[in-house]
Amino acid sequence: MIVTRVWFRTLGSASILFLVGILWYLRHTRYTTVQVHKSSFDWSQVKYLHHAQPEVGAVSGATRILPKIQHRFERSSNISKKQRQRRDVILSTFKKCWRNYRTYAWKQDELLPISAGGKNSFGGWAATLIDSLDTLWIMGLKEEFFEAVGVVASLDWNSTPETSCSVFETTIRHLGGLLSAYDLSGHDALLQKAVELGDMLITSFNTPSGLPASWLDFEKAKTGQLEAGFHEPSTSAGSLALEFTRLSQVTRDPKYYNMVTKVAVLMQQSQNQTKLPGMWPANWNLATGNFVSDNSFTIGAFADSTYEYLPKMFALTGGADTMYAQMYRTAAEAITNSLLYRPTTPNEDDVLFAGSVWVESDGSQRLNPEGQHLSCFIGGMYGVGGKLIGDESHVELGLKLTKGCIWAYNAFASGIMPENFNLVACPSIHGPCPWDEEKWRQKLYADFDGHDDLPKGFTNARVPTYLLRPEAIESVFIMYRITGREELLDAAWTMFQAIDKATSTPYGNAAIEDVGTVGSRQRDSMESFWLAETLKYLYLIFSPPDGMSLDEWVFNTEAHPFRRPRGSY
Ligand SMILES: *[C@@H]1O[C@H](CO)[C@@H](O)[C@H](O)[C@H]1NC(C)=O
Ligand SMILES: *[C@@H]1O[C@H](CO)[C@@H](O)[C@H](O)[C@H]1NC(C)=O
Repeated sequence: MIVTRVWFRTLGSASILFLVGILWYLRHTRYTTVQVHKSSFDWSQVKYLHHAQPEVGAVSGATRILPKIQHRFERSSNISKKQRQRRDVILSTFKKCWRNYRTYAWKQDELLPISAGGKNSFGGWAATLIDSLDTLWIMGLKEEFFEAVGVVASLDWNSTPETSCSVFETTIRHLGGLLSAYDLSGHDALLQKAVELGDMLITSFNTPSGLPASWLDFEKAKTGQLEAGFHEPSTSAGSLALEFTRLSQVTRDPKYYNMVTKVAVLMQQSQNQTKLPGMWPANWNLATGNFVSDNSFTIGAFADSTYEYLPKMFALTGGADTMYAQMYRTAAEAITNSLLYRPTTPNEDDVLFAGSVWVESDGSQRLNPEGQHLSCFIGGMYGVGGKLIGDESHVELGLKLTKGCIWAYNAFASGIMPENFNLVACPSIHGPCPWDEEKWRQKLYADFDGHDDLPKGFTNARVPTYLLRPEAIESVFIMYRITGREELLDAAWTMFQAIDKATSTPYGNAAIEDVGTVGSRQRDSMESFWLAETLKYLYLIFSPPDGMSLDEWVFNTEAHPFRRPRGSY
């Protein structure tokens, strides 16, 4: 105190102002003088050999005011002490991982959380660093953020030991991460690097069919030799829309939006022509543009964000692109009628799951009552979609689907749900669903996968791993923001505690081999989505709900928030 007073007296208020000015200047220059090094190849110069660059056009309709997504919280800018304490625990978990990434794996794609090293699994462009930028900003770790921006500014997309990259993964993680960090901070270096990367990734459309190749072979893409595949996951074309639309919005260059809109138009034309009308099969023929011939339908792996992006595109275009709302409505109806099922559980819980369907040659549908961790996003999709089109029945389904994932987490010894498993389905999602132990045992015997200690209700845990995935917590976060139900906060906290207990290592958090075992063996792997998604959604659920409001932001499938158009909410 005394020291402070002496300081004040000696310096006088003018000097204090001067000092503050200097400090502000230093911080400001540090912010703006990041030197951006251009990549060594300019992808915007690639010639499109097979078809003209698409016509200039823009989002079709006018923006409008969309219905509110978020619950009206009473104290939306305040949180209780309990939530604050929980949030601080999430923050320190993140900080531990980041510190060790910086020490042991700096500029590499992933930290090895057991052996304290690094590895490159996504082209060597610092995947964890780029994927974490917006989380750093949201958590208020500004110094770490600007240090990371400095690394981004010197990245050269043309410098990689790989000969190709996954268009889907690089779009959702790297391009999504850069755009979102730019939306939050306005830092120009991030936009410049996003444009360079977007120009590279969009050449995946430089194919004879004009549809994207799912692997961008760099040399072929430069010379127009790229071809799209005959049997590709629908996400490799159907899940690029949000990122490239945001890129067109911030650059005001419609070329990216026009490319992804070609896919959307084909989706719309084929939606009612498939073997399960309203849905698209999990695999598409991108060489010919035939999206209808396959028999396998899922909202899990290979298809998930194709559906997730339908309501999100409606939000990102400010309600202008009504095509997406229409496709969402039609798809949700088909999913509800054909894929959703209520499982028999010992306590007859009123929960739902999304399975997968195989359509036989006679047109009959065979439901596989499975569960996938990846499918847990679907609760949040119904929540957001239902709010945007004004259908509360979707929100109710979203809540039951989210409760299904919470139930599955709680059922296993570790408190975590497996990657893949099977249950016993009741005939209807509406009628009663009595527990029948005998029937479960018969199914258990038929589905036997070597696990003889499964929780009641489960007939196998085909893939018993947990890879630090976010989808269950993502839906809990979204449904909390939509409904304001306090029990979802406790559910999220219980899930986090179980996850941290099973996955924590001295250097970070590690994937585990078997959720059915307490103290399961860990794997030396921490994918970038742990910091980009899982910990971000956890941090946000315990934060004041008016921060990163779902009315102002739309999250891509890697949890990167993009700003929704002002005047549309
Ligand atoms: C926030 O909530 C706490 C009670 O949980 C209350 O004591 C405090 O005054 C509130 N602060 C603001 C700024 O509303
Ligand atoms: C597909 O069918 C649904 C009715 O199930 C209809 O509402 C929708 O407009 C149709 N979509 C197209 C593109 O014709």
